[in-house]
This record gives sequence, structure tokens and C-alpha cells, in this order.
Amino acid sequence: MLEKIRKGIEYIYPHIVEIRRKFHKHPELKLQEYKTAELVQKELTRAGWKTHPNYANTTAVIGLFEGKKDGPVRAFRADMDALPIKEDTGLQYSSEVEGVMHACGHDFHTSILLGLAYLLNRERDQLAGRVILVFQPGEEGGFGARILTDAGLIKDFGIEYIIGQHLHTDTHLGTVEYRRGIMSANSDRFRITITGQGGHASRPHEAIDPIAIASHIYISLCTIHSRETSPLNPTVITVASINAGTASNVIPDLAVMKGTVRTLGEENRDFTLKRIKDVAEQIARTFRGTADVKISDGYPSVVNDDTITEKVIEAVSLYLGRKNLVEMKQPSMGGEDFSYYLKKVPGSIYRIGVGPSSSLHCSKFAPNEEALKIGMGINSTIALLLS
Ligand code: NI
Repeated sequence: MLEKIRKGIEYIYPHIVEIRRKFHKHPELKLQEYKTAELVQKELTRAGWKTHPNYANTTAVIGLFEGKKDGPVRAFRADMDALPIKEDTGLQYSSEVEGVMHACGHDFHTSILLGLAYLLNRERDQLAGRVILVFQPGEEGGFGARILTDAGLIKDFGIEYIIGQHLHTDTHLGTVEYRRGIMSANSDRFRITITGQGGHASRPHEAIDPIAIASHIYISLCTIHSRETSPLNPTVITVASINAGTASNVIPDLAVMKGTVRTLGEENRDFTLKRIKDVAEQIARTFRGTADVKISDGYPSVVNDDTITEKVIEAVSLYLGRKNLVEMKQPSMGGEDFSYYLKKVPGSIYRIGVGPSSSLHCSKFAPNEEALKIGMGINSTIALLLS
């Protein structure tokens, strides 16, 4: 079977590369993946799959394929959206959309699943159970996975477990990284609006300076993760934007601070978010102002299931050999909305090495297309040999 998978991949590879370059040339931003979805739909149909386009009133396309034998219902997921980045790779098939680029490899993920669709069609007699392909919109901050799971994706298709993949630049091409348990951070955002009282810059005692308050809040926020959370449980609090004032001789009324919080585990998340609110409010009060703290929930932690991760480990060992399997030693502080599927069903997301390479979300990101074969190989091995 492995030989058949390898042969199938060699056969389909030129077509998948062509499709990938089409996606790359025509990237679309989160929740606007119209042309991408159209091409996905066309290719799935060509590969003999049933499709459900516009699932949950979005650009999502769900593909469905039945094997000849009995078996479980499992899903594979790809994200379809690109980023607001101006491409600077110099590739012949560079983005033709000004300021938009597939800089997170989602063109690869989408193409890998289309490759899987063709491969399973070739091996239908060997396939047990049903395979669902989830082409989701809006992974880059668009909560695409949450929209689909809230709409009932898991129940509608009877999904029993789900597999995801993502390109990764710190791991070498030809290797795959996996992790059991917590893989990525809870990523939340905050916005603190500090209200003081404006006045003449030469008469600070008649004003309440929101910039002075913001400065104290900034230092104190840094103290939360150095003094109040465990050094063994990483926490990131980054103030990424501070805005206040317009002139050198005017004390403004307001200052606004915005930033991100990354935590692992629910307990640490709740604690850190509560402390940010308490600290900001109380410091503002200390200096006679007020602080209004708004927290917006971001993606929760990805928590991979042990049993499904074993399938990934086995598939990589079979397809690539054990020496090309890398265990991810620590979770990443990045965010990933695959977590929403994992709140409903067990699953695992693995990383396909494309290093050395420019990093993800960078205008020069140009991963080696051989990575497509690896993704197709592992997913086909899971679908055909480890159902
Ligand atoms: Ni991504």
C-alpha cells in the first residue's frame, strides 16, 4: 500500500503543484476566500467527491468520500485564507493581488487536501469508512473553525476525529514534528482606555495626565508575568500599541494601550486576564484617573489527543521513517483555531518541516513544494492504513 501511495503521489504531484501556484497567485483574505473555494469545489468534484459548498454561510467547502469498506468517519482540515502582506519572494507565480500574500502556507494546506482527495479516489477499494475534508475560511483571526463548529459541523458529518497540518520553518524539510497535549497558547487581546483630564503641559498639577498613568500600568503589567505567574508556566503580556496626545504642549484626556496575552492552560489564562484588569483599574485610580479594560477572547490552546497523535506518529514512521519524526519539546506561544475542533472531537495537528526558510508571515516566505508530497503522504497513510 505504501508503494501505491508513493506512486500515486508522484503521478498527481504536477497537478497539485499547478493548483498550489494558482492559489498562490490569487490569495484572498480571511472570510473572503471566494475564488479559492470555487477552485476547491471544482477539483473535489473532478476527484469524484461529494461537496457541500458555502457551509455555514461562509466560503467553507466540505468534501465527503465513502470507502468500499466499513470504518470510522474522520476529517482532515485545511485553512484557505492569506495575509495582508506585500509579497517579496520574486517567484514567477508571485501574488497578483496587491498587498495580499499566502505567507502562512495555507495554499499548501489546501493543495495537500486536494491531493489527498485524488489519492483516495484512486484507492477507493482499499478505503474503510468515510473521509471528510474541511476547507475552512478565516484562520488568520477570522474564527473560521469556531464558525463551522458552532454551525454543527462535527454532528452534521458525524466526524469521529480530525487531523490538521501546518508548515513549519524551524523544522527541516523532510521531517515532521508532532506534540502530545498542549501545542499552542491561548491568545487573547486587551485594550485599556485610560481617562485622565487634559490641560496645559506647563501646568500638570491642574490636569490628570493619562500618559503618566499609562506608563505606570505598562511597568506593572510586566510585573504580572515576572512576579505572579509560575516561571515554569510561560505567560506573555505584550503591549504592542500606546496612543495618546497630539501636541508637545497639551496634556491629553485619553491614552489607549493595546496588546496581546499568551497563556497555557485555562487556570493561567483566567488568572492573567483578571490581573491585567485589576492592575490597570487600580493604578489608574491611584493616580486619579480611570481605566476601562476590554478583553477580547482569542483562540484557545490547541490540545492534541494522545491516541490520535499516535496515529500521526505511526503514519510518519511508516511513510518517512522514524528518524524523520521530531517531537516538539515545548508548546508554541502562537495561536491556531484548530483548537475549536478539538473542543468537540479528538484530533491532532502536526507540523511539516520546510526549513531552512524565511519565517511564516514574512514577505519572503517561499517554502519548497516538496512539502506538498509529505503532507499528502502522511494524510493518505492515516486514511488508508490507520483508519
Ligand atoms: Ni497558518
